[in-house]
Amino acid sequence: MDRILVRGGNRLSGTIPISGAKNSALTLLPCALLTDEPLTLRNLPRLADVDSFGHLLNQLGCSTMIEGARPEDFGRVMTLRAGKVTATIAPYDIVRKMRASILVLGPLLARAGEATVSLPGGCAIGNRPIDLHLKALEAFGAQMETTSGYVTARAKDGRLPGGKIIFPVVSVGATENALMAAARARGTCVIENAAREPEIVDLCNLLVAMGVQIDGIGTETLTIEGTDRLHGATYRVMPDRIEAGSYACAVGIAGGDVDLVGANPADMQATLGALRDAGVTVEEHRKGIRVSSDGKLGPLTLSTAPFPGFATDMQAQFMAMLTKAGGASVLTETIFENRYMHVPELARMGADIQVRGRSAVVRGVDRLVGAPVMATDLRASMSLIIAGLVAEGETNVQRVYHLDRGYERLEEKLSAVGADIERVSDG
Ligand code: UD1
Repeated sequence: MDRILVRGGNRLSGTIPISGAKNSALTLLPCALLTDEPLTLRNLPRLADVDSFGHLLNQLGCSTMIEGARPEDFGRVMTLRAGKVTATIAPYDIVRKMRASILVLGPLLARAGEATVSLPGGCAIGNRPIDLHLKALEAFGAQMETTSGYVTARAKDGRLPGGKIIFPVVSVGATENALMAAARARGTCVIENAAREPEIVDLCNLLVAMGVQIDGIGTETLTIEGTDRLHGATYRVMPDRIEAGSYACAVGIAGGDVDLVGANPADMQATLGALRDAGVTVEEHRKGIRVSSDGKLGPLTLSTAPFPGFATDMQAQFMAMLTKAGGASVLTETIFENRYMHVPELARMGADIQVRGRSAVVRGVDRLVGAPVMATDLRASMSLIIAGLVAEGETNVQRVYHLDRGYERLEEKLSAVGADIERVSDG
């Protein structure tokens, strides 16, 4: 199993290219199921989750072809074609390993009139139910049946009649499944209290490019006029705002001057505002975002919230950055009940963090010290890398497969700007 070794103390300077967004890619890929024509996605990140999603689509009858990108290039182009859907089930084994697999539910139902997915169960960051995904499909006219850990959605006569769902809380995943199910509905579908994340806008833009009519893109009310004549498209995945924010936190704590080329500041205002409040210099320009810091940071009070609020996916990385701020920060996690699994690991490196209910108080310390650490999820793993960049001695980050799910060639990107970081393979 691979490990990543970080020796702290280096400032970072240079350029980091920002990859295509993982969270966007994983909702654009299943759109291939909506049409028998080819869908070409550009700027797809090279990540384990994208490969796994491709394998799931293959099992459903969708072919995937990667165009000849050179190994040294970041990103790649994939053409998907679901000429005929040959299976309508996402089995437990796959959903268990990759929660995003539940995003085949909406498009499979829309295309084949029936879809079965395994209920995902809990995960490292919380309970994460899918009841809102199911309620949305039901509201659009699907008949639902749950047996033996699987849920089946069926559309009478093959197509959903349409309808309206008012979500009681904002859910990114449920909004995505609802949008894809609505894309081929016979009547109008309305989503109230829809998620407004940039990845939702990316999904809407692809569906529009495929022939669906959507009003209210980027707002909390989406009105979708479905069509059974969806066609193929070529579409470029948006830049990864979480990857860009993570590297900005790395520069914040380590000090230095780094250009995040390809990042889109418009998608990242809450993150950029928080960085500025902490004392990091952030300059938005035409090609990306330039971040510079002398490593001297002030404390913050932050609470996670749906977009345009401060993203839950940035909480762990900010916490790592604030372990060395001058003063006490308070971070409150409102989206997931158990998203502080990085706290004990950061504490082993010398951080002073106390969790009380949904909030964590982070008191800045003068020094962090490298240690063997491991995390149970993707963003938590990144927080350990960020802390490792300033820790004295060596930080040995285990369970690197979490990082490989969401950061395209992390160690290459960080060592190119001066970090002392390497991947070690034990096998
Ligand atoms: C969430 C984040 C997203 C992040 C992703 C991975 C939000 C709003 N969503 O998306 O930014 O990229 O995790 O870290 O910040 N819920 C239900 N029933 C459901 C679905 C969700 O009760 O059927 C609840 C969840 O438990 C959670 C909230 O709604 O408290 C938001 O969840 P949701 O947006 O659906 O989660 P993801 O799509 O995984």
